[in-house]
Amino acid sequence: MDLVKLHDKQFKLAISPEQVREAVSEIAWKINRDFSGESPLFLSILNGSFMFTADLLKEIKIDCQVSFVKLSSYDGSASTGKVKELIGLSENINGRSVIILEDIVDTGTTLECLVKQINQHSPKQVRIATLLLKPEAFSGIIHIDYVGIEIPNDFIVGYGLDYNELGRNLEGIYKIIE
Ligand code: IMP
Ligand code: MG
Repeated sequence: MDLVKLHDKQFKLAISPEQVREAVSEIAWKINRDFSGESPLFLSILNGSFMFTADLLKEIKIDCQVSFVKLSSYDGSASTGKVKELIGLSENINGRSVIILEDIVDTGTTLECLVKQINQHSPKQVRIATLLLKPEAFSGIIHIDYVGIEIPNDFIVGYGLDYNELGRNLEGIYKIIE
């Protein structure tokens, strides 16, 4: 299935499920190495990161916890530049190592906002892992510790990412056909 139609737009396969799996395994391998002997808290940003989080966590071999926050900055196929908090932080993160899990870093606004909020609760350290990064859109203000795949500045869907809520269930990643 190389072409899909969601609402009014067509998308074509850009990153295969196998490539996604390899990128997820590589990130898991690095986190297992870097956090050996620690017990980090994974903080996953809903909705988009649910699939990345589930697949990554299956490959994490160290003790860990997982929790979720829900943030939203996209409307349709464009960033609004504003971040809405829909479900907030419920964990005590004082003195903890926190690893934020993001599906994709675009401008970086969502993460800047979350990192600022987390830092007010005195964590031991905050690291960021993202499956995808759009370097051309990224402000570069915060440091991303683990990047799966760098992609061009195209709108994409699949593997958790949506176009107006459709496409999250796709196993591969698809880019919009303009
Ligand atoms: P940022 O705040 O601009 O970095 O945007 C990050 C959030 O916007 C991501 O967590 C996604 O939920 C969403 N997003 C960014 N780019 C795309 C895309 O190409 N397709 C679908 N959602 C996207
Ligand atoms: Mg997201």
